[in-house]
Amino acid sequence: MERTFLAIKPDGVQRGLVGEIIRRFESKGFTLIGLKFMNVSRELAESHYAVHRERPFFPSLIEFITSGPVVAMVWEGEGVVASARKMIGATKPLSAEPGTIRGDFGVSVGRNIIHGSDAIETAQTEVNLWFKDEDLVSWQPSMTSWLQE
Ligand code: RTP
Ligand code: MG
Repeated sequence: MERTFLAIKPDGVQRGLVGEIIRRFESKGFTLIGLKFMNVSRELAESHYAVHRERPFFPSLIEFITSGPVVAMVWEGEGVVASARKMIGATKPLSAEPGTIRGDFGVSVGRNIIHGSDAIETAQTEVNLWFKDEDLVSWQPSMTSWLQE
């Protein structure tokens, strides 16, 4: 089953949006299989955002993501990678559609509330970077037959 890595960033945690964000993915019908409330080390932050290492915003991005606790999560479901990106919305919250998390709750690119893996391959790498296999819980929600034919 397809999996994605999502992380509620320090601003989302500080603003009290954890419950609201988890509610959206639960209500949509995706399955939570990994959850960790944690501070992010500089090393982990730099690995996670390694693709942006040469970008001018990299230092402030690392500073921000390590500035307070985050909620790291793995969610499972058919098409979850692309669907979660849609639910999160565009990188710049002012350009993000209303109804998306960034569109509903944010105004600034450097405070855009949540991270989501951008492709299936990236998701696999990020799940492995943030979680050990034994910390992921494989389970079958009892509502499955009411969500899928
Ligand atoms: P994320 O990886 O955090 O889910 O965000 P994303 O895919 O929508 O955007 P990405 O291009 O991967 O950028 C990663 C994070 O870097 C910050 N950023 N700042 N100042 C800027 O122009 C700029 N561009 C990107 C954002 O916090 C973005 O989420
Ligand atoms: Mg990204």
